[in-house]
Amino acid sequence: MTDPTKLDAWGALSQLARTDGQKHLRDLFAEDEGRFERFSYEAAGLFLDASKTRVTPAVTDALLALAEQAGVEKKRRGMFSGEAINGTEGRAVLHVALRDNRTGKYSVDGEDILPGILDVRERMKAFTDAVTSGERKGATGKPLTTVVNIGIGGSDLGPVMVTEALRPYHLEGREVHYVSNVDGTHLSEVLRQVDPETTLFCIASKTFTTQETMTNAQSARDWFLKSGRSEADIAKHFVALSTNHQATSEFGIDSDNVFGFWDWVGGRYSLWSAIGLPIALTVGWDAFEDLLSGAHAMDRHFEEAPAAENLPMMMGLIGLWHRTFLDMPAVACLPYDQSLLRLPAYLQQADMESNGKGRRTDGSKVDYETGPIVFGEPGTNGQHAFYQLIHQGTTEMLCEFIAPAVSHNPLGDHHEKLLANFLAQPEALMVGVTEEEAFSQLKEQGESDEEANRLKGHKAFPGNRPSISILMQKLTPETLGALIALYEHKIFVQGAVWGVNSYDQFGVELGKVLAKPILAELKGEADADHDRSTSGLIARIRSLRAG
Ligand code: F6P
Repeated sequence: MTDPTKLDAWGALSQLARTDGQKHLRDLFAEDEGRFERFSYEAAGLFLDASKTRVTPAVTDALLALAEQAGVEKKRRGMFSGEAINGTEGRAVLHVALRDNRTGKYSVDGEDILPGILDVRERMKAFTDAVTSGERKGATGKPLTTVVNIGIGGSDLGPVMVTEALRPYHLEGREVHYVSNVDGTHLSEVLRQVDPETTLFCIASKTFTTQETMTNAQSARDWFLKSGRSEADIAKHFVALSTNHQATSEFGIDSDNVFGFWDWVGGRYSLWSAIGLPIALTVGWDAFEDLLSGAHAMDRHFEEAPAAENLPMMMGLIGLWHRTFLDMPAVACLPYDQSLLRLPAYLQQADMESNGKGRRTDGSKVDYETGPIVFGEPGTNGQHAFYQLIHQGTTEMLCEFIAPAVSHNPLGDHHEKLLANFLAQPEALMVGVTEEEAFSQLKEQGESDEEANRLKGHKAFPGNRPSISILMQKLTPETLGALIALYEHKIFVQGAVWGVNSYDQFGVELGKVLAKPILAELKGEADADHDRSTSGLIARIRSLRAG
């Protein structure tokens, strides 16, 4: 793996960061009437305007040169052709195959993986249809109208986010709950609301060893049995979504009730696999297929469109420019759509677990900034919370605004108001207000010179704060699929340039390992040595629990 800082284009971009990167967006728009057209991109039902980011034609040219010199297209071919691009784990990365139907296109170790994919998809479809039609019943003969999905991370966030986003497509009479946290409150609150006779539990875990999921699954099983049901009834009420068939059978789930997937599907890229079953059970099979085809349309675009017109490529490169060359530490995900409520949480895992890395694939240390901090909230709620810092704080960041032009819930002029905010915020971030303008405005409001001088700094906005706007006609299963795939590929592009492995997650391991002896200590089964702070806190917790 080449150190990307040694590439010619990296040097050119470092220079540009001191020149073009410092230009004010107001001036860039004044200089170039074609800026909006020049820096907007379109594919698979999504329109992306990047003209309010701090790029110039020289910058995008250099970014494209960087992508070429870093071998992004070659790496993309490697991903699509099933190379083990997840080198630390020796795995291919083929979530794209899960939303495709092309025989012979994807193989792992020389074997076409499509038949296996289609087989699971067929079983998921048959199961979904049987449950949603009421043909498949619970142990007491009642239809299974409620799904409780137990999973965490990639086995939770994708399905939760999509389920929420597709609310207008929910089949009538179906209820779904997601339990992820090992905090007993999460499961207890859900179990309080559901009826064991009509509930289907989906135990979603790629490894089927994750502490949180296994603990919740075991407690759900105990609750089910305590409600008067027998071990034999488990088969009617528990299914597993997993790659670990041995562990699912040890848990007591028979193989007919296991929907499998493969190690070439990363957890945070798995909503397209059997992990998507709770989505299908809520919106029906056809809508789930539409989600897959929306993602596939974006895959085709990513694979085939020239780099300069390629939406994920350009979004990835422009994001990387702001992160690495303009040193902006964060990306704010700002969906102006209430049903995308969980998108920021989903993207936190997708992006931060993928690109929060400090080593290149060959193990060498990076000495440049990689994955950003991702956070966000749906608009307009975020406006009344953290936008103050985005507008006037000392930290600059890239904002990503997302909105559908048409609402599923037309109600008076709500949607026009929502869209007005979706448009006004990026405009405000870009243009800002100078101190002179603030002074004039204060004077127009009747303030004295003294008062206007006192307040003008507080009322000024620096502007020049970059944002991307993503627009779609309506949030449908297809456009949602395309949006998620766009982000997946954006993350790929950035990881490919930084030279990191976007598909492992060793950073989550250490805490898990350390929690094991602590658990034994909290249960009074063992003692262990820790730093003084951890030991002090353990002692304090013990005494608080002792009352
Ligand atoms: O957080 C670490 C992680 O391994 C994620 O990558 C994964 O999505 C999550 O745990 C859940 O893992 P599993 O599906 O194996 O339970």
